[in-house]
Amino acid sequence: MRLVLLGPPGAGKGTQAGVLSKNYSLMHMSTGDLLREAVKNNTDVGVQAKVFMDRGELVSDEIVARMITEKLKGADAKASGFMLDGFPRTKNQAQILEQALTDLKMPLDLVIYFKTSEATILKRLTGRRICRSCGQIFHITNIPPKTEGICDVCGGELYQRDDDKKATIKNRIKVYNEQTSELIDYYNQKKMLKEVSGDLDVGELYSVFKDIFKKAGLK
Ligand code: AP5
Repeated sequence: MRLVLLGPPGAGKGTQAGVLSKNYSLMHMSTGDLLREAVKNNTDVGVQAKVFMDRGELVSDEIVARMITEKLKGADAKASGFMLDGFPRTKNQAQILEQALTDLKMPLDLVIYFKTSEATILKRLTGRRICRSCGQIFHITNIPPKTEGICDVCGGELYQRDDDKKATIKNRIKVYNEQTSELIDYYNQKKMLKEVSGDLDVGELYSVFKDIFKKAGLK
């Protein structure tokens, strides 16, 4: 199964992808995670990307497309299928992806759109905490860790993303509405879009995904 997870910031794409990759053998590729790793390692790409990420703006299509196409060429993506989280985010990125997948003879099966209310987005992003060591995602009230500030999985320290501050969140939502939301129509016209509610809790949403996968023949 080859999927794109599409939706606004904070819709729960990364969290649900984590649940799905544990239960189905699907590779999870997040451009946000790849970029944050590059920033952490202070690579040339990371230094360039950080300026845009801190403002809540999009990094250049060229940088993210290169990152993703390299991953798609790997053996894992071919063997197990994948979920793209946070990519594509512009029509140009969608076209680059289509060409890359055509060349690799791995066409997309579905684009799952997380339709999510603004109230949910704001609450989720302002309360998000992430483990510095293993990347596990928590929320201070929705999905709290057993001990405040400490990861349940590995005992690592939890931190708040720099772009989860209120002013940056507002800009990320604006950028999503201006540059990414048109992909809903784009994939709808290609009859590839499936809408789910991003407002559901993690378990409810997982049940919806199980149904979608069952109908698509994936156990
Ligand atoms: P990226 O990391 O992709 O950020 P995003 O799209 O804004 O998405 P988020 O990671 O914020 O949200 P999510 O939907 O994964 O929610 P999550 O599961 O964490 O991108 C960051 C930046 O990188 C961009 O601004 C841009 O600069 C750059 N970038 C990335 N990709 C790019 C691209 N293709 N092109 C150009 N630039 C790019 O959940 C949020 C919170 O809610 C968590 O606390 C979680 O615990 C909680 N939660 C999740 N699901 C539920 C649920 N169902 N019920 C209750 N709580 C929930």
